[in-house]
Amino acid sequence: MSKKNNAAAGAFEILKQLNGPLSVGIGTGSTTDCFTENFLPLLGEKIKSLYSSSDRTSELLLKLGFQVSEYKPNNLLDVYIDGADEVDDNLNLIKGGGGAHTNEKKLAKQAQRFICIVDDEKLVNTLGKFPLPVEIESEESEEAISSLAQYSNKIIKRDGLSDNGNHLYDIHNFMIEDPLKIEHEVLSINGVVDVGIFSVDSPTTVVVGSDSGYRLIDS
Ligand code: 5RP
Repeated sequence: MSKKNNAAAGAFEILKQLNGPLSVGIGTGSTTDCFTENFLPLLGEKIKSLYSSSDRTSELLLKLGFQVSEYKPNNLLDVYIDGADEVDDNLNLIKGGGGAHTNEKKLAKQAQRFICIVDDEKLVNTLGKFPLPVEIESEESEEAISSLAQYSNKIIKRDGLSDNGNHLYDIHNFMIEDPLKIEHEVLSINGVVDVGIFSVDSPTTVVVGSDSGYRLIDS
């Protein structure tokens, strides 16, 4: 099995042990897709409701015959399952490689527990080798980009828009020594909708997939 599939298998084993029925949020990306395609169907009655973090994930869930519950700001989820682009020593994350970090963060914050599934190549000491995604309101983007220039002179706009209809930018060459501080700073910039730093505030388990299986790191 691939590393990603091994990480997804680890999330499946954790869910099997939990008392159901569970409300589960599903993230976005290839690792999460492994979970959704190969393991979610095996959980049967243990799943009460599913919430999706992106149009792409909703499409996959519907294609597999699952129902997707409507997002509401006051929903409470038992578990949120998602991948990440980088995981640092303190389990802070960079997410948003797939451009879905704004809606992913909303679900992660509503969940009692976050199960993050990554392959072992995503582990780093310090976040920042992976470019940091930022979602910005279209009308405010010029002003926001000039503020973000304090962090790097290489900020690249992505083609296309987020599911929320906003612009997506990636800040390159930006090593993030203090993720919580940078998350707050970037969020305070006018026009920024959200940034792909996830500083852990709910109980998190990172499932690290390798060629030989998986291991768990708990917050
Ligand atoms: C999407 C994300 C993904 O979780 C992240 O990009 C990892 O993706 P993959 O599992 O394909 O490596 O944050 O917005």
